[in-house]
Amino acid sequence: MQEIITKTVQLHDKKFASHISAAEIDNAVAKIASAINTDLAGKNPLFVCVLNGVFLFAADLLRKIETPCEVSFIKVSSYEGTASTGEVKTQIGLKEDIKGRTIVLVEDIIDSGNTIAKLLPILESQEPAEIKIATLLFKPSAFKRDFKIDYTGMEIPNDFVVGYGLDYNGLGRNLPEIYKLNE
Ligand code: IMP
Ligand code: MG
Repeated sequence: MQEIITKTVQLHDKKFASHISAAEIDNAVAKIASAINTDLAGKNPLFVCVLNGVFLFAADLLRKIETPCEVSFIKVSSYEGTASTGEVKTQIGLKEDIKGRTIVLVEDIIDSGNTIAKLLPILESQEPAEIKIATLLFKPSAFKRDFKIDYTGMEIPNDFVVGYGLDYNGLGRNLPEIYKLNE
């Protein structure tokens, strides 16, 4: 039997407990990559990755993609502390011409859905052939929108999580595993 050790980390004023292991993250990433490899083979997809939180997921996902593809990054922010502000700010836009392209919009986590809901019409106005949405984590009970999520790594409860790219006020992005806020 494997012993499960709960690790804790302190970030600013809050304590977080280990929640999703590196192996579980890797499985979730592999599941998404495998589905994309099947669905989008030969379509030269352009992965549009939403910074900052997505940087580790994007790096691991792209290394598992086996069809020719391109990658680009956009930057938005909506979170302050442990809650979404509801207002999404676009800070770095997309330079590629996406007309007629297959786009995979890549997020670390979909919470309220506000970020993607704000980005979708901006991308759609440039007439891509299709837009697929991929997210490592999804919080169904926080979701307030109705767009379809094509690829989900893991569904999680409405807890605030950090690690593997996700931060609490700037800290925690470097943690190789995912931790959740201690109540
Ligand atoms: P949404 O716009 O509410 O769907 O949230 C999307 C963005 O908020 C994500 O890309 C994250 O950057 C951030 N976010 C949402 N939930 C969490 C969390 O539990 N921890 C850290 N960041 C989060
Ligand atoms: Mg994000």
